[in-house]
Amino acid sequence: MGHGQAGFTKQMARNVFYGGSVFFALLFAAIVFHSEQRIPQRSNSAAITPQVVAGKKIWETRNCIGCHTLLGEGAYFAPELGNVYLRRGPDFIKAWMKIQPTHTPGRRQMPQFNLNEQQLDELVEFLKWTSQVNTEKWPPNIEG
Ligand code: HEC
Repeated sequence: MGHGQAGFTKQMARNVFYGGSVFFALLFAAIVFHSEQRIPQRSNSAAITPQVVAGKKIWETRNCIGCHTLLGEGAYFAPELGNVYLRRGPDFIKAWMKIQPTHTPGRRQMPQFNLNEQQLDELVEFLKWTSQVNTEKWPPNIEG
């Protein structure tokens, strides 16, 4: 090796920089693509019926999330409800909504929302759908 020809030249450094950048940009794009591909399957979007959509609207307009979490998102005043359909079932949920507030001493209270039968069914369908979202087994147990 002659004078001025270092083992690792600027040209090589430039190639490593650009090559590395392109490699990781492509890898990132591939990972994003892979995630995007899996969203319909993981969110179980085929099961989003008009009833589920209507139930979600009830969930949003009544601000259930102001007290509850749903799959971890929301407030920590009241129980996580992502799996409530699995742990309680549709009949319990509808009955529960109707008997609020329970006025049980020492327990936090939930308001009465005066939902009709159709709205209660829609809410149940929404909570059934959330229980079927593939969250890679989160929360770790049915009580959330
Ligand atoms: C002001 C706060 C508040 C709001 C708003 C609220 N909840 Fe609740 N909810 C509670 C509390 C507190 C409990 C637990 C009460 C208890 O255990 O005695 C509860 C419990 C529940 C349960 C039973 C959970 C279980 O594991 O047994 C369901 C189902 C439920 N809420 C649904 C809803 C839905 C649906 C909405 C919106 C339409 C809603 N809640 C809005 C406070 C609230």
